[in-house]
Amino acid sequence: MAGFFITFEGPDGSGKTTQLKLLTQWFRAQDVAPVLLRQPGGTPLGEQIRSIVLHSRTDEKLGVLDPMAELALMFADRAQSIAEVILPALQHNRVVLCDRYTDSSEAYQGAGRGLGSARVLTLHAELCGGLQPDLTVLLLPDVEKALLRARHRNEGALQVGGDDENRFERAGDDFFRRVHAGYTAIAKREPQRVVAIGGDRSIEDVAKAVRDAVAARWTPAAAHTGAY
Ligand code: ADP
Ligand code: TYD
Repeated sequence: MAGFFITFEGPDGSGKTTQLKLLTQWFRAQDVAPVLLRQPGGTPLGEQIRSIVLHSRTDEKLGVLDPMAELALMFADRAQSIAEVILPALQHNRVVLCDRYTDSSEAYQGAGRGLGSARVLTLHAELCGGLQPDLTVLLLPDVEKALLRARHRNEGALQVGGDDENRFERAGDDFFRRVHAGYTAIAKREPQRVVAIGGDRSIEDVAKAVRDAVAARWTPAAAHTGAY
């Protein structure tokens, strides 16, 4: 398949949004306009799924989302994104940058919720045609550091009265630690695809490591630079 597919992964607060923005600027400076999307979300249907998943954590009327239902929703979102955005973009030789993908389901639902990796990987094969990124940037700050960042951000959001989109940080430290361990296991299993950037590094330091990982695998000449 033509095009180049990059996913960003990591626990909440690991710096994905920050690094996605910087990498987008780097591509644009080379006249390459990446296709950007996030999961859950990225399509009209996906944004509705996102809203259900994230609000179910605070809106009691919605009831508690069963872990299996949560996993199914993540894959429904992903299948739609693949069909509607990712495959068409790759077929048009575009660079696709996706904030989270199947590794998130493996880390959060597989490890965090305890549903197991095998189930997630089977669903990925069945529902996503096994489509794998060319590169996955895994941001994995020290677990204590990441917890602290996520908490700060949540507190900030709550203070300004936002509904905080209610991420999984609320699930507690143990859950967060299992997610972290899940990511570590994925990086060990697939060192070719997954470039893990860990430790306590500055934003610019991480950005440089991300650019190096991309530059080692992607050349501008191969990229389509405009709209479809
Ligand atoms: P994510 O999208 O993974 O949840 P963000 O990019 O929103 O993470 O980052 C969470 C917070 O941590 C933000 O306040 C951001 O400015 C800060 N941050 C991101 N990367 C770093 C870093 N390398 N060192 C210190 N703080 C960082
Ligand atoms: P998001 O705001 O994208 O993440 P972040 O807090 O890192 O900026 O929130 C999405 C949430 O959904 C996040 O807590 C991870 C979770 N998630 C899963 O549990 N499974 C999945 O398959 C995906 C894609 C996300």
